[in-house]
This record gives sequence, C-alpha cells and structure tokens, in this order.
Amino acid sequence: MSELIDPKEDNKENLKEKADSKKIKKVREIPQKLIKFRELKYQAENSAPPERIKAQKDKGKLTARERIQYLVDEGSWHEIGAFVESRCTDFGIKDKHIKGDGVITGFGRINGKKVAVFSQDFMQLGGSLGLAHARKIAHLQDLAIKAGCPIIGILDSGGARIQEGVDSLDGYGEIFYRNTISSGIIPQISVIVGPCAGGAVYSPALTDFVFMVKGISNMFVTGPAVVKTATGESIDAETLGGAKAHASKSGVCHFVANSEPDCYRQVKELLSFLPSNSTEKAPVVATSDPIDRKIALLERLCHIDPKKPYRVHHIIWWLADDHKFLEVHQDFAKNIVVGFIRMGGEVIGVVANNPAHMAGALDIDSSDKAARFIRFLNNFNIPILSLVDVPGYWPGTAQEHGGIIRHGAKLLYAYSEATVPKVSLILRKAYGGAYIAMNSKYMGSDFNFALPSAEIAVMGPMGAVEILYSKQIKEAPVEEQAAIKSKLAAEYSEKFASPYQTASTGSIDEIIEPSDVRQKLIEAFRFLKDKKNHPHNDKKGNIPL
Ligand code: HXC
Repeated sequence: MSELIDPKEDNKENLKEKADSKKIKKVREIPQKLIKFRELKYQAENSAPPERIKAQKDKGKLTARERIQYLVDEGSWHEIGAFVESRCTDFGIKDKHIKGDGVITGFGRINGKKVAVFSQDFMQLGGSLGLAHARKIAHLQDLAIKAGCPIIGILDSGGARIQEGVDSLDGYGEIFYRNTISSGIIPQISVIVGPCAGGAVYSPALTDFVFMVKGISNMFVTGPAVVKTATGESIDAETLGGAKAHASKSGVCHFVANSEPDCYRQVKELLSFLPSNSTEKAPVVATSDPIDRKIALLERLCHIDPKKPYRVHHIIWWLADDHKFLEVHQDFAKNIVVGFIRMGGEVIGVVANNPAHMAGALDIDSSDKAARFIRFLNNFNIPILSLVDVPGYWPGTAQEHGGIIRHGAKLLYAYSEATVPKVSLILRKAYGGAYIAMNSKYMGSDFNFALPSAEIAVMGPMGAVEILYSKQIKEAPVEEQAAIKSKLAAEYSEKFASPYQTASTGSIDEIIEPSDVRQKLIEAFRFLKDKKNHPHNDKKGNIPL
C-alpha cells in the first residue's frame, strides 16, 4: 500500500539526489501537481493521529488498513474513493476534512479470487456512517454485482453518524437495499470487529455469513444502557451481543474467531469453497484421496444400540476428501450440522442430523439453520448431501408456541425449491414428518440411499405399539405389560424399523454396503453434475417466515 511511502520523504530524496549527484546533468523534476497528489494521498491514508491508533490497539483491534492487508493477496489491493469527504456542514464535520469519510473501499484478490472489500475506520469519527460513507459502500456493492465477485464488509462503527441526522439513516437504506438485491447473486460476508449497533446490525444480518471475534465484536439493536432503562436488566455488552451470544444463542453469527488474524484466515477458508457468483460453479480442487476409500466406521452403526448418541461429525470427516470439513454455525442448533466438504474434488454442502444433541430431533432453530444454508447452496450451485438420523420433532409447548410449524415449514420449502443435485443417506432413524423433511424422495430428492442400519417408520417402535395396541396392553396384568410392549415393539421393528419395507416401495433407491458409501455418493453426485430441472414458477414463492 502506498501509505508506506511518505511523499515528502520521496521529495527530499529527490532533492538530495539533485544536490549530491553532480554527475547527473538533468535531474528528474517532480511536477507540483504530482507532489500535491502524493501528499494528499498520503494524508488520506495516514490521517489517524497516533493517540487514535493507540486507542484502537489498546482495545485489541487492528486498524482498518491492517485488516485489509491481512485479508487480500499482497500487492493486489486497489482503493477507490480515498478522497471522498462528507458534505455535511453541521457540527463541524466538513471542517475536519476526513478523506475517505471513515471507510476504506476497494477491490483485490484473495488466493487469486477477485473480491470487493470495505473496511470501516473506527479511528475516524468512530467509523460512523454518514451519507458519503454509505454511498462509498453502496457503490462498491454495485461494482461487486457487476464484476460478479464476493463482497466482504469489515464493520467497526458507532452506527448512524449522529451529526448527519436522517441522511445517515437513508445511507443505511441504500446499503440494505443492495444487500437484498445482491442476495443469491454474489456471496456477501460480514466481519464484525468492533461495535455494530442499532439498525446497523441489519446489513450483516442480510448477508450470507457473519464472522465475529471474541472480546472485540458486539452486535445489538439496543445496547446495555437502553436495556437497563427499558427493562431494568443490567447486562454488559459482551454478554448481550458478543461473539458467544450470537454464535450460540441468537444464531446471527456463523463463525467465531479467537483473534482478528484467525478471523481473516477463516474468511479465506470459507471463500475457498465458494463460487464467485451464482452463474459459476464452486472451485474444484484435485485430491489424492481415493474415491473408493472404504469407511469402516459406518459398519459400526449396524452394531450399536439405536438409542446411543454419536457425533455425526465423525461420519462427515470420513466421507470428506482428506477429512476436511468446514462447519458453519458450529455452536448454534447443534442438533443439526451444516457445512462444506469436498468429495472427489467437488464442493458439497452437508446437512446432517446430529444424534449427540437432542437426539438429532428437529426444532425451530435447527429448521431455520438448515433452511438458510440450503438456500445458500442452491443459489450458488453447490450440491446437497443430507445425512439422516432423526427421531422426529422436539416436543413441547415452547416449540409449539414458538412456531415449530412455521419454522419447520421453512426446511420443507428450502429442500423442495432447491434445484441443485440432492442426495440423501439414511444412517439410522428416519421417523415421521422429520423423515419427509430431511430431503425424502417425494420432496424432490434425486437419490435416496440407506445403510442397512436405517430404520424408516412413521414413529419409533415403542410409541407405535403404545398407540396401536393400547387396549391390549392395558388389559394385560401390570407385571406383564412391559414384556408385551417389548415383544410387540420387536415385531414392529422387524417390519418397519429397517430400510427394506421402504426400499420395496421405491422410496429408497438403494441400500448401500457401509464401507462403499464414499464411492457411491461421489458417483451419484458425478451422475447429477449437469442436472437439468423442470422450470419452476418464474415468480419467487412465498417461503414461510
Ligand atoms: C458520530 C460517533 C458515533 C456516531 C461514535 N462516534 N459513534 N460520532 N456518530 N454514531 C465518535 C465519538 O464521538 C468519538 O469521537 C469517537 O467516535 C470514538 O467514540 P468513543 O465513544 O470515544 O469510543 P468508545 O468509548 O470505544 O465507544 C464506542 C461506542 C460509543 C460504544 C460505539 O461511541 C457509542 O455508544 N456511540 C454511539 C452509538 C450509537 O448510539 N449510535 C447510533 C446507533 S442508532 P471523538 O471525536 O469525541 O473522539 C443507529 C441507527 C441506524 O445506528 C439505523 C439504520 C437503519
């Protein structure tokens, strides 16, 4: 970056050269216009006073320019709008002549892939968003759509610039509008590395992935002071809107980092799985991992007690090329696991029930989490692998009154509307409505496979016999009831809690030898590579929200 060359020094060098070098007959003269330009550019790039830099560092934060340096390939950065200033004349803003208006915008490359980046500069008016600042971001958003490249926003801001009044609110409107019209066309990534408060939170919320860093990132619509006044509740900013809260409770944050450098490394890793825009396919990476690698682990599912929990991550790691899995939303709704792997070099999005948490049952948060991820995959041409081990929906008043019907419908909708290749593998349980929701055959799946350990039924055996044989059980002597139930449940399991009944109707395409699963899945996705779809309704449907 040119901030490293002080033009005054450059000029002194030339003067020195002029004085020293009598041998040089004609010294290169730097035109005044060029000197002025270099000085102004240097000022624009280095205008934060040392005490502001110190304050930024004391909070454990990098500067806005350092952040870009961490993110983009060396030598690839091109800034635009460095000379933009606020036109606001109130409260002395204009007199401050803040070049760039508190945000750095431009484009560069990350591991060779072109990207648009903006980075809010907290050292300038607290990174607050005035109209000029907003228009720089909006212009970059327009450019990113035209160029068909991901846009990454680095947010560190006190929010709407108070001195600019409604102009700054309108500025947010311009950004939100572009966040929305870019959605599904280019990947949008938000990196929160400071405050992000008030309505400002809605720009990241409209983007595809939100990153936060422990200890320095905050997001809230109303901060601790307003919470205290309105509700009397005392809470600090980190507990209210820090990385942990949003990664595990609200689900706003998809990735948490321990430090800023760690955060930018994670952003780069995510980008390595994504196409640049919705007209492209995700990048293929050659692998030496054999496609016919046998997976002994899956055989164990045929041995273990169906009630025994296990982390589905183990299966994902074994399926993935080189055992690499980038999990998204790791700490939120852990009963479903979503993320990116490669199989045979191709990027695949995984959606997997996780029996280690809430027995893998579906609930409100897991439905939201999976539906949103599936819609991202579909927008960006990434095939979907569903790993099914689901006992049903999580019961209870909290779920019913919280809207499991409405939220659960999102998952059905997202799977059904997705036109990318869709393959599912039933590992163990696939019961009731949850079986249907997890990409079942008649919801538009392309291939449905099952392991011999699969149990596909309307409900679990015990629940089923209690309904089917309630009279017979009640009439039996109390001491015999348990044994009768077990016997009937075993009979029910024999008939329904296996994949054979379902395979006989064609609802399952194939029951697979566990050790062959990786190869079967890769071949299925290769077969579907150029999948064509019957045209859907041109108008966008109305997803239950
Ligand atoms: C103008 C702002 C500002 C803002 C901070 N600054 N926020 N200037 N507009 N919104 C300035 C401060 O005046 C200060 O300038 C400098 O930035 C650094 O701020 P500090 O307060 O010294 O920093 P710190 O102690 O770290 O506190 C950071 C902060 C606090 C928590 C973000 O500044 C704060 O609470 N700011 C106001 C937040 C806010 O209410 N924003 C509006 C939200 S409503 P000087 O020159 O004195 O150093 C909103 C609506 C959006 O954003 C709606 C969109 C639809």
